[in-house]
Amino acid sequence: MSLMRFPALLAAALCALPVAAGTASDEKMDEFIDDLMSKMTIEEKVGQITLVTYDKSFMTGATQSKGVAKKIAEGKVGGVFNVRTLEDKINIQKLAVEQTRLGIPLMFGLDVIHGYRTIWPVPLALSCSWDMDLIERTAAAAADEATSEGIDWTFSPMVDLVRDPRWGRVAESSGEDPYLGSRIAEAMVRGYQGESLDDPQSMMACVKHFALYGAGEGGRDYDMVDMSPNRMYQEYFLPYKAAVDAGAGSVMSSFNDVNGVPATANKWLLTDILRGEWGFDGFTVSDYTSVGELTEHGLGTLAEVSARALKAGLDMDMVSEGVLKNMDYCLEKGLLTEADIDVACRRILEAKYKLGLFENPYLRLGSQPVDREKYRSLALEAARKSIVLLKNDRNVLPLEKEAKVALIGPLADTRWELMGTWAGAAAMPDEGVSIKSGISRYTSSLIHTVGAPITDNPGLARMIGVNIERSGDPDSLIAEAVSAAEKSDIVIAVLGENAKMSGESSSMTWIGLQPTQRRLLEALVATGKDVVLVLLNGRPMTLEWEDAHCAAIVDAWAPGLQGGNAVADVLFGEYNPSGRLTMTFPRTVGQVPIYYSMKSTGRPHIPFVKYRTGYIDCPQDPLYPFGYGLSYSQVDYSDMKAEYDSVSRSVKASAKVTNTSGRAVEETVQLYIGDVTASVTRPEKELKGFRKVELAPGESLTVDFSVPVSELGFWTPELEYIVETGEFTVGIGPDSQRLMTAKVVYSDVADCPAELKTL
Ligand code: NOJ
Repeated sequence: MSLMRFPALLAAALCALPVAAGTASDEKMDEFIDDLMSKMTIEEKVGQITLVTYDKSFMTGATQSKGVAKKIAEGKVGGVFNVRTLEDKINIQKLAVEQTRLGIPLMFGLDVIHGYRTIWPVPLALSCSWDMDLIERTAAAAADEATSEGIDWTFSPMVDLVRDPRWGRVAESSGEDPYLGSRIAEAMVRGYQGESLDDPQSMMACVKHFALYGAGEGGRDYDMVDMSPNRMYQEYFLPYKAAVDAGAGSVMSSFNDVNGVPATANKWLLTDILRGEWGFDGFTVSDYTSVGELTEHGLGTLAEVSARALKAGLDMDMVSEGVLKNMDYCLEKGLLTEADIDVACRRILEAKYKLGLFENPYLRLGSQPVDREKYRSLALEAARKSIVLLKNDRNVLPLEKEAKVALIGPLADTRWELMGTWAGAAAMPDEGVSIKSGISRYTSSLIHTVGAPITDNPGLARMIGVNIERSGDPDSLIAEAVSAAEKSDIVIAVLGENAKMSGESSSMTWIGLQPTQRRLLEALVATGKDVVLVLLNGRPMTLEWEDAHCAAIVDAWAPGLQGGNAVADVLFGEYNPSGRLTMTFPRTVGQVPIYYSMKSTGRPHIPFVKYRTGYIDCPQDPLYPFGYGLSYSQVDYSDMKAEYDSVSRSVKASAKVTNTSGRAVEETVQLYIGDVTASVTRPEKELKGFRKVELAPGESLTVDFSVPVSELGFWTPELEYIVETGEFTVGIGPDSQRLMTAKVVYSDVADCPAELKTL
């Protein structure tokens, strides 16, 4: 540590701290915290468990904390989030360090979700890369940028499993699959936290939203969840646990009710499972005012619910200040004891210790230099790899350079809308690249017209910041677009959702193109020109008509800072698209929830046959399945092998993949396993492995998988994890539907019990 960078006064304040600590052992940490806590009043302890949002900055929730500077100086605050500038952070850290009795430093939090200054594609998009190394690098780069401006703690990764595209927050997720979601959760935690939390470039991860926030009824935000524990263990818990196992320092509780007890006050979740079963030793934090909102759930007064949440295992209160405002009452009435508060306070102090803040409260407030050029390239790589080619009839793509392009749509010439849902705090949209400017690099023959407003639904327009009045006359807009199309070789229609149409509090009942945009698209298709639909979106959309009528569909999601370049690179073949969907695209919203790992009913679907499951007005299958995505190459799968290997106690499987095209390609080879004969019902298939391989033109590779026997197991209704002997179907292929399959018999009873139960 060097104190040289700080003014003398600050250096003196640092030296006055009770004990210098750092990367020392747990014992040293315990000693340090014992000593510190022995000097703390109960008010100061309550201060540590209080997290406020900065009142001179932006809000990410419905209310703002008040009188923040005063509270900090009085020792009533443990952490602050949403402080925009470095200067403000330094100033308020000074208040904590210099003006409070014990000089305990603050911890600065922020939602660094898909980048800090350099914005990556939204998480759902990034997950479509299936590239764990890339995802880890983006998290590490975000940590580098955010810590250089004083952030100690990010409210990420969000690892909620999502199966309902009506929910706007699917954009922040990694999709529908527990296995893939777990791998991504681990990668993000590693990226954020680095080798050691007290490294100035590392920030603490906060796994959210524990638990089951993605399973809210009807896709409505904040809504209740009623789910069997069996399903939780089998599917929904896995990514949270993976993040905890990867060492995440904190966990955020979710807003929703879980089987009758909101997660924020749910002892079973926050203590029994998180700490008891998974051994989590970090701290928990509520979501924004979710402690206070327990009163809306009907659980009592602010005093009662705050005490209940703390007793349930919630350590830090985000914004509600429940215990802070009601400490005396809670103690008097016996709702809380000082020992309860001690437990939570200790965990916050431990986090600060691990982050190196006691040794140097200004550790991340020194504005370390950041290599922005490097991160710009990373943003381009991330955006390219996130794009999913959904359709490409007659190889209409890639386009010839200098093609005559009509570039149509309200999202074609915007930098901001490409940034996606969580880009507010420090993003640099001015440095962003619109699709129009990306495409201009490839052709000088470009006519751009807006074509249609994003929506003409007045309520929706208000929520997403669109001014319908200023959008222009719809008929003239379409006429102008049609005339541009008629003068061109190809039409590129950039349509879909703006940044505010997904994310928090953005549930939608209609997940198709807005009618204004659809009318435009119909008119463009009617010109007879090939129409390439470039979709910007934060959720799977219903695209049956578009799939039937557009020559090609490129799903670009919200691709971030370099989005325009990445889209153009894909359209003109500079980059061979490689993204694969991580969430099923339904044909119609009526199919929701729809996901690939559904179980069979006793009456499996047969089209147009009575007494069978499914719908009578719509096919059973989705429009685009999980794992799906095209490229400009052809990759053939052959020579599948699978067997159980009793030496390694794993299923060994392999397949040959051959690039039969003249273009190099990145192929994501996916492995699924289904348990054919179990004592309980099991999904037909579950992802159990994937490998991303590069294939040169004409190259063949044998891709091997080794799936440990423990992955063949399941949770019984009694919540025991067991592996049963029997027959399994192993499938290998380019997506969850196009699979070569083989049977494997696992009969090695001796392998089974003991350690598997501890999984
Ligand atoms: C509410 C959101 O649910 C959560 O994800 C976020 O971290 C907090 N607000 C803080 O902004």
